[in-house]
Amino acid sequence: MASKNTEQVPGADGQSTGRRGWLQWAGQTLGALSAIALGIPIVWYLLGPVLRRRSEAWLDAGKLDSFSVGQTKLVDMRNRVGRPWSGESARVAAYVRRRSQKDFVVFAVNCTHLGCPVSWFSQSGLFMCPCHGGVYYADGSRAAGPPPRGLYKLPHRMMGGRLQIKISHLPTLAEPA
Ligand code: FES
Repeated sequence: MASKNTEQVPGADGQSTGRRGWLQWAGQTLGALSAIALGIPIVWYLLGPVLRRRSEAWLDAGKLDSFSVGQTKLVDMRNRVGRPWSGESARVAAYVRRRSQKDFVVFAVNCTHLGCPVSWFSQSGLFMCPCHGGVYYADGSRAAGPPPRGLYKLPHRMMGGRLQIKISHLPTLAEPA
């Protein structure tokens, strides 16, 4: 009689063990997914300095021969931190002016008023901003309008017969004149 009391229904026991196992598996899986979801921002934060260094890398602007003395040219480059799906947003531009055989000056395209891209007009020798009428001379200094200062200058160097430009961030008024 005692054995009858402890006897369990085979079907019910198997079902409850199976359900418990499934719930355990689901709980562990959800826990692992949550840990991954929380871990990604932490890893991203830790890799930040490495990615920033990459974004500050020198970008190739072209052969030195492609720039004529006394002329200003718009160069179009692709940011190193761009991804295949970044599209147009990965493109960066700058104005390169060759002052002599070995002397270049590179300007950011952003107006120093509110950041609109300026255009170069070789006929008048002026940079003009379409947003609020800011005007700059060929040497980048402010000529007229609301801009508080001249165009931002970007670091550049000559390497192996090519011009390289560093565009690491959007310039702000904190940049040296
Ligand atoms: Fe260029 Fe205002 S953004 S003048």
